[in-house]
Amino acid sequence: MKIGIDKLAFATTDKYMDLRELAAARNVDPDKYTIGIGQDLQAVVPPTQDIVTLAAAAAQKLLTPAIAQRISTVIVATESGIDNSKAAAIYVKHLLGLGDFVRTVELKEACYSATAGLQFARGIVALNPQEEVLVIAADIARYGLNTPGEVTQGAGAVAMIVSQNPRVLAIEDTSVSLTKDIMDFWRPLYATEAFVDGKYSTSVYIDCFREVLTRYQQLTGRPLADFSALLFHLPFTKMGKKALEAVLGDRADATAERFRRALAASQAACRQVGNLYTGSLYLALMSYLQNGEAQAGDRLGLFSYGSGAEGEFFTGILQPGFADYVLPLSSALRDRQQVSVAEYERLFNQQLGMTAEDINFSTEGDSAPFVLAGQKDHQRQYRAN
Ligand code: CAA
Repeated sequence: MKIGIDKLAFATTDKYMDLRELAAARNVDPDKYTIGIGQDLQAVVPPTQDIVTLAAAAAQKLLTPAIAQRISTVIVATESGIDNSKAAAIYVKHLLGLGDFVRTVELKEACYSATAGLQFARGIVALNPQEEVLVIAADIARYGLNTPGEVTQGAGAVAMIVSQNPRVLAIEDTSVSLTKDIMDFWRPLYATEAFVDGKYSTSVYIDCFREVLTRYQQLTGRPLADFSALLFHLPFTKMGKKALEAVLGDRADATAERFRRALAASQAACRQVGNLYTGSLYLALMSYLQNGEAQAGDRLGLFSYGSGAEGEFFTGILQPGFADYVLPLSSALRDRQQVSVAEYERLFNQQLGMTAEDINFSTEGDSAPFVLAGQKDHQRQYRAN
């Protein structure tokens, strides 16, 4: 039985900042951000948005009444959760109006956990082929004002339906996972921004990619030429280039050039929103499918990475008609309003973090389908907009 991704959708906030303006404000050469790091625009998060509203906005685009009936499980993967106990998936299930007879859970392992969600969903569908699983990767990447990581912030969610006879990507059975106990990036319970050893994190990411790819090739005997593209978790677009070039070296043959073109197509969306943490690999997949040379029958290799650290290399075969089930990125990226650096800084400081106070946010001016209206009695107040 084929099992995999049946449908994909993306949502981000309705505000962004131009990173050349951030460079000017931080007294940095703009080429460092746009070429050295490889980011052009960054999603800006108003206080009325969090991972629950972003997750629900992405998932809502996928749902029809028939699909909603078949969903047995909702998995929200995130490393920017809003509660240490209650799963974000419960709030999302409520906002989407799904019935009560569903299983809801939140998964965490830095930027990796959506891939765990996808693999767990495959298991559920294998046991119960009539069921479908809604897997949502939603995050707000926050490093702090004036930090080296600031240029790599971002926000958004990718939602996918996992089912039998998938119409986008049938996931193949062989995959390689690798876990190492390291401290490259982490966020203690008392912190609203991540701690990161940035240079170390980029080198362990590359090492992890090499290790899982080498082991995959040992297990399958499959040459790189068997792939039409390699897709990466993109904390910033240059990271994918570093990892790809680490395995290609000086190669300039047809396979290497095809991978380089595919990488550029997969980076296009990330350049405009920034790091999505759990959703980043899946946004790269959507971006490749909409901007690249993808064709039905192609084999794609996907590298998922989460600091701490966990990596997985897995593969999938593109299905006939896949393009009809990858919802357009263009509308989510186009219908946004540019804000100044001063406005970004103001909104950054307004995000609901560790405050225990009751608070009301004005939701005027937020065009998202779901909003966070504030907090009352320690409970977040969500509503349809
Ligand atoms: N023109 C063109 N390029 C320029 C330039 C200019 N004027 N000035 C600098 N550059 C280049 C540098 O040469 C460098 O390129 P290379 O990496 O190819 O050598 C690049 O711009 C970055 O410059 P720095 O080396 O000075 O880097 P930095 O100190 O500003 O920090 C960073 C960069 C480490 C990525 C930092 O942004 C950071 O800490 N980011 C967050 C951590 C992260 O994303 N890690 C990724 C792996 S971990 C992961 O994947 C999980 C996750 O999502 C977090």
